[in-house]
This record gives sequence, C-alpha cells and structure tokens, in this order.
Amino acid sequence: MAAGAMLRDTFGRRISYLRLSVTDRCDLRCGYCMPEKMQFLPKREVLSLEELYQLSLGFIARGITKIRLTGGEPLVRRDMVDLLRALGRKLGEGLEELTLTTNGTQLAGYAAQIADAGVRRINVSLDTLDPVLFTQLTRRDRLADVLAGVAAAKAAGLKVKINTVALKGLNEDEIPELVRWAHGEGHDLTLIEVMPLGEVEEDRVDHFLPLTAVRERLEQCFTLSDSSHSTGGPARYLTVAETGGRLGLISPLTNNFCAGCNRIRVTATGQLYPCLGGGERVDLRAALRSDAPDDNLAAALDQAMRIKPERHHFDISARGAAPAQPRHMSVTGG
Ligand code: GTP
Ligand code: 5AD
Ligand code: SF4
Repeated sequence: MAAGAMLRDTFGRRISYLRLSVTDRCDLRCGYCMPEKMQFLPKREVLSLEELYQLSLGFIARGITKIRLTGGEPLVRRDMVDLLRALGRKLGEGLEELTLTTNGTQLAGYAAQIADAGVRRINVSLDTLDPVLFTQLTRRDRLADVLAGVAAAKAAGLKVKINTVALKGLNEDEIPELVRWAHGEGHDLTLIEVMPLGEVEEDRVDHFLPLTAVRERLEQCFTLSDSSHSTGGPARYLTVAETGGRLGLISPLTNNFCAGCNRIRVTATGQLYPCLGGGERVDLRAALRSDAPDDNLAAALDQAMRIKPERHHFDISARGAAPAQPRHMSVTGG
C-alpha cells in the first residue's frame, strides 16, 4: 500500500525517521511536560494495533528507515510488544532501525521481549538519580522501578541512552554526576532543553536552562570535544575524555537544528504533525478508514511533505507567555 516516491519536503529534506506515538497516556506526571490532571484521549480515538502496523508499512514503503515508538509512555499500552514484534520482522526489509523512548517505569518487565523483537537500543528518560527530587519532578515515587528497568535493559543486551531534561535550580547541580553515572554504566547521556509545549502548572521560564551554560559548566570538570557521531536524531554529540562516554545535546532553543530535520511524527490518533513545534497536521486516520486507504494515505503523505515548515519558533524568555503550541509533548510523541 501507499507505494510512491520517497518522502522529501519542499526544503529538500529527505524524511526517513518516523516517531510513532502509540498512546498519549503516561504513568508519570513530569511538571514541565503535563499537568497533574492531564486530560487523556478516550481510548476509542486511538488507532488499533492493526492500524498502527498498516500505517508503519505505508511509511516504510515511502522510504522511512527508522521507526521510534513513543508516547506518552509507550509501555503503558499492553499490546505494545505485539507491535514491536510485528515491526521487528520488517527489519532488513526496508526498515533499518526499530526503537523506542520510554520513561522506564515498566521496562524491567519488558526488556527481554523488547530485545527479542529486534530492538537494539532504547532511550530512557531520567532527570535525576535522587529519589526525593525524582518524586518532586515526576509527582510519582518510581525511581527504583526506573533504575531496575535500566538495569534489565542492559542485562537484555539493549544499548541504553539516558535522556535528561536540564532544569535550572532542580537537577542543574547533578548533571556532572549523571554524566559519570551513565557513562560508568556504559550508557550514552543526552541533555535536552525544555520546550514550550502545552500548558502546565509551572512557568517553564523558571526552570529553563540553556545548554550553552551547561556546557560551560561541564567544561570545568570534564574535557569535552565535538564528535561526528550521529544517530539520525537531533542531538549533537561530544565525547568526554575522563569517562570515555558520549554526551548528546538537544538544544532547540540555543542551537536550532531544523535545517537537518529528517523526522515526522504521528500521534496515537493518527494525526501526522510534520513539525513538533508547528500546528500543521494531516489526518491519516481518516485516510486509513476511507474507501480507498492506499490512495488516500499516499495523498496524505504527499500533503504532509508540502506543509512541513522550515523550522520551529520556540521561545522561552517572556514570563507568562503562552506555549508555542497547545499540544503537550506527550501528545505529539516528542
Ligand atoms: P536518537 O535516535 O537516539 O537520536 O533519539 P532521538 O533524540 O531522535 O529521540 P528521543 O525520543 O530520545 O528524543 C529526545 C528529545 O528530542 C525528545 O524530547 C524529543 O522531543 C526531542 N526531539 C526529537 N526530535 C525533535 C525535533 O525535531 N525538534 C525538537 N525541537 N525536538 C525534538
Ligand atoms: N520540553 C522538553 N522535553 C520534554 N519532554 C517532555 N516534555 C518536554 C518539554 N516540554 C521529554 C521527556 C523525555 C522526552 C521524550 O521528552 O522528559 O525525555
Ligand atoms: Fe510521562 Fe514523559 Fe511526560 Fe514525564 S515527560 S510525564 S514520563 S510523557
């Protein structure tokens, strides 16, 4: 289905990386991500496993080589592993990488099955190793579960990358320790700037920490050098001489990386957003459920390429400013 040309946008960017959200739900409530009383989608709105699979095949036919399952938290969806298994069979048949981003709370129970499905590396979100701060940041007391999940992933042979959102006055002082811990365990670590997506109780200005400042501070304890390493994601990498490990920086606010964008994202309801920071959208669910799904999906993907914007316009400088988009990161899947 949906055979056709490779996906290329009007700025000449080849789109090869699909971030597919399988649920908007999450078992944590990170303060910068979502409000405590987050309104989740009714389950009937969400694509079925078969639809997610069918869509993925359509994308692979159009030149998508990397699929990352995201959420919310992908592992709160019980049939997640079935989707991974089905997609795992497409590895080497157009699909080159299958992976996921998880908060790790349920990873201990799934790590072996994830590895078995053909996943080689996963990204785990973890902003602190301090149980008190973890509970403050996520509003749930789950650090021990996450650490058990990371350990289980390593034991299952999965390569783990830790994702840490850099937060002023919260985990700021802990970043060198997080680098030492992650690298000591053999994991890469990527730092992320907080992005203005969706309303939350806090003002993100209060905790926005530019990674330019983090880098300067890290240079006081580590020898950092630029690396040419690339995963096809937005991070720029440094190597840390003292640990021998890799440190990624995702700096949408201080170092725009949109010129090299190769990504699109699909929400759990089948809405394709060609940019995380934009309102442009194409309804793939309607195409999928129409009388001519193949033709309509092909047309919807062509339309997505036409409307993909050149860049996002995030700004976290003015107190009280509205978010760049009303959609939370957990809806778009990052
Ligand atoms: P790798 O395959 O390991 O490179 O992963 P990745 O960085 O592509 O994925 P991950 O899920 O680990 O994403 C880390 C963070 O980067 C998340 O917070 C995403 O929202 C953010 N991110 C990913 N793509 C984009 C993008 O196109 N624009 C912006 N602004 N942020 C992005
Ligand atoms: N800005 C930056 N990162 C965010 N995440 C969730 N919401 C935001 C935001 N507003 C991060 C999570 C996780 C990744 C998938 O997205 O912490 O690392
Ligand atoms: Fe859940 Fe991830 Fe949002 Fe935290 S950042 S509440 S783990 S979706």
